[in-house]
Amino acid sequence: MQDSKVLGIDIGGSGVKGGIVDVKKGKLKGERVRIPTPKSHDPKLIVDAVAQIAESFEWNGIMGCGFPGVIRSQVIETAANLGGKKIIGTNLAEQIGAACGCEAWIINDADAAGLAEIKYGAGKNCKGVVLMLTVGTGIGTALFTDGKLVPNLEFGHLRMRDKFTSKNVAAEKLYSDAARKNHDYTWRVWAERFNKYLQYVHSLCWPDLIIIGGGAASKSEKFMKYIDVDCDIVTAELENRAGIIGAAYMASKILKNRS
Ligand code: BGC
Repeated sequence: MQDSKVLGIDIGGSGVKGGIVDVKKGKLKGERVRIPTPKSHDPKLIVDAVAQIAESFEWNGIMGCGFPGVIRSQVIETAANLGGKKIIGTNLAEQIGAACGCEAWIINDADAAGLAEIKYGAGKNCKGVVLMLTVGTGIGTALFTDGKLVPNLEFGHLRMRDKFTSKNVAAEKLYSDAARKNHDYTWRVWAERFNKYLQYVHSLCWPDLIIIGGGAASKSEKFMKYIDVDCDIVTAELENRAGIIGAAYMASKILKNRS
């Protein structure tokens, strides 16, 4: 049993969340811990926040962390909403591993959430093309074909025209849950705007199934009735646990095979 436990962490724009995951079942064992993301987004403080969570579980096993940016060979390549330029080029896995005294694996946060849904949730046993979009501070993307992930896709960064400023901006600035709150849109207005974005994204990859996750997913009754795309569309089953569970699952797959 001990073997199937991995610490999963989800590093987000407003909170760093963690929990022990039973990767055989795809379930959290016990409580989820959340601490606010350091306001300065200083990389060292982000690492300290992760270490604080590991310490709260007295953890010294392997750990998987979702991070909101492109990750290649464990190095942060982009960080639009967290850490900015200061964190780019950082091998976050190494730094977290050193701070926590354990082996860590880093993965894009949406890829982590998508993997959890594919393995244990709304995308379980789905063949064909499955697209997961996490809608929160930003918009994260995870694309699967027959269960296999195409990593680091960034549909939240498609350049789209902001009709108020006539400037082209990242789609997530217009259609994320944070944009809904910033502009004080009603759910209906936001959903109709988001639906246009969904139709566009659909036309780029023609998924068989779209899974909507992230913060907005917990309010699905407010907006799903306005959504109309030419494929099946559902909300994430693992809710705000998906990022933690997927990061732990990936770490177990990669790090356990190494040792
Ligand atoms: C980042 C993505 C991330 C998404 C959700 C975007 O700004 O570029 O990598 O998955 O936010 O956190």
